[in-house]
Amino acid sequence: MNEKLLQTFEESLQRCTEVPHFLDLFYAKFLGSSPKVREKFAKTDFARQKQALRASFDTLLAAAKDGDGGPEKHLARLAERHGSRQLGVGAELYDLWLDSLLATVKECDPEFSASVETAWEDVMTVGIRYLCSRFNSATGA
Ligand code: HEM
Repeated sequence: MNEKLLQTFEESLQRCTEVPHFLDLFYAKFLGSSPKVREKFAKTDFARQKQALRASFDTLLAAAKDGDGGPEKHLARLAERHGSRQLGVGAELYDLWLDSLLATVKECDPEFSASVETAWEDVMTVGIRYLCSRFNSATGA
């Protein structure tokens, strides 16, 4: 993935992270997008979940930076967690996840632009594709 795009993503992530309600806004949009999403998060501790999601943006960036082997290296555990044996997060829910995230970035990043949107979309898609491709795979043990 090209350097400029990765840098655009990193700078926008930094600006969004400075907005105190960034992750609250994301979860409000995502939970509002479908009852299926609300069901999945019925028992979730959102203080912990928000921290985990913030950290996973850095992990997704690392996966995108590392090229072909990146997702396997950085995201195997996350894929395991979201796959059919554990959380059972199907591909259709990732569309809602990405739409909610892009709408949130649009509201929170004062420098939002078409290239910022593309940068988020491209970096997140590396992770989403991998997580979806591993949905049915074995435990990896
Ligand atoms: C690329 C997209 C996604 C990323 C980066 C991501 C990231 C994470 C992270 C870091 C965790 C915490 C893992 C742990 O505690 O071991 C988590 C948990 C979870 N994720 Fe995702 N997630 C994504 C997509 C989704 C989608 C589309 C759904 C659909 C509803 C979803 C539902 C959940 C649920 C239900 C949990 C467990 C919450 C709990 O512990 O109660 N995730 N996710």
